[in-house]
Amino acid sequence: KQEHKESLFIALNYAKDFFIEKMTKTSEGKSVGIGYFKERGFHNQTIENFELGYSLNQWDAFEKAALQKGFKEDILEAAGLIMRKEDRKYDRFRSRVMFPIHNLAGRVIAFGARTLKKDDKPKYLNSPETEVYHKSDVLYGIFQAKNALRMEDNALLVEGYTDVLSLHQSGIENVVASSGTALTEGQIKLVKRFTNNMTVLYDGDEAGIKASLRGTDLILEQGMDVRVVVLPEGQDPDSYCRELGGQRFKEYIDKHARDFILFKTDVLLKGAENDPIKKANVTRDIVQSIAKIPDPIKQSVFYKECAKLLNIPEELLISEGEKIKQKVI
Ligand code: CTP
Ligand code: MN
Ligand code: MN
Ligand code: MN
Ligand code: MN
Repeated sequence: KQEHKESLFIALNYAKDFFIEKMTKTSEGKSVGIGYFKERGFHNQTIENFELGYSLNQWDAFEKAALQKGFKEDILEAAGLIMRKEDRKYDRFRSRVMFPIHNLAGRVIAFGARTLKKDDKPKYLNSPETEVYHKSDVLYGIFQAKNALRMEDNALLVEGYTDVLSLHQSGIENVVASSGTALTEGQIKLVKRFTNNMTVLYDGDEAGIKASLRGTDLILEQGMDVRVVVLPEGQDPDSYCRELGGQRFKEYIDKHARDFILFKTDVLLKGAENDPIKKANVTRDIVQSIAKIPDPIKQSVFYKECAKLLNIPEELLISEGEKIKQKVI
C-alpha cells in the first residue's frame, strides 16, 4: 500500500518534470506555455517556485514518454495522469498550462491545468481524487506559504491558483487557495498548524461574497479568528494586486479586513430591511455562528456587538445561543 503510494509520487514527480521540460525546451512550450505566463506578467522566479509547466497539444505525449521510462500504465492511471476509454488510453492533460499541487512536504500530489483558449470548458481541469490526493484536505500553495504563515501569524485565503502566484510575486507569501470550493475542516486543520488567524479574500462578485459566507462557520468552530475582505467588483486578488502593487494591496487588506461575524451580520441585514420575518431569520443565523465560537470571552463580545447591530437585546441572543448549543450536544 505504502509502496503503491510511493510509486504514484514518483510518477507525479516525473510528470511535473516532464511538463517543465516541455514548456522550457520545446518551441510549442516556449511560445504557448511560457508565452501565456509572461503575458500574465509572471516572472521566471515565480514559474520556478511553483514548478509551473505545459502539456503539449498531443494525445499521448506524456504516456509515451512515461512508458518508455518504464512506468507502468496502471500507476499512471492511478495517479490520474492518463485516462482510459475502452481500449484507447490518452493523456488527461493536453494543451494546458500546468499547476502542480504540492503537499506540505513539497511533493507533487496532483495538478490543476488551465486551458489557453478563451471560453474553453472547463477553464481548469484538475486531477481526480487518488490515493495521494484528497482534494478536501489540500490547500494550493501550502508548501510555499508555510514559513510565512507562521511569521505573519495570518493566512490569506484566496480562491485560485493565479491569486496565489500573484500575491507571492508581490512579496505576500502567507497565502493559500481553496481552489474554488467551500473550505473544509481538513483544510482548516492544515492552516491551524501554522496560525490561528485567517483573512478570507474572495472575488468581488456575488459568488465570491456568497462563498465567503459559506464554510466560514467551520473556521469559527475550530476556534480560528476570521476576517473577511471584499475586493472591488470585478476584481480578484490576482487582478487587484497587479493593479495596486504589493504594498498598496497589503494596505487595502489591512484597511478593509472586517471581522467575519460583523461582516456577515451586515450583509444579511442589508437583505432584510423592513422585513421582520427575514430579520428574525438573520438573527437566528448570526446566533448560530456566534454559538460556534469555543472561547466564551470572544463569544460574549460578539453577542454584545451583534445585539447592537441587530437592535435586539443581548440577553435574548445569548439565551438563543445556549439553546442551539444544547441541541448540538
Ligand atoms: N476552478 C476549478 N475548475 C473550474 C473553475 C475554477 O477548479 N472549472 C478553481 C481553480 O482552482 C481556480 C479557482 O477555482 O483557480 C477560482 O476560479 P476563477 O476565479 O474562475 O479562476 P481564476 O483563479 O481567477 O483563474 P484565471 O485568473 O486564470 O481566470
Ligand atoms: Mn478522499
Ligand atoms: Mn470567481
Ligand atoms: Mn483570475
Ligand atoms: Mn478568480
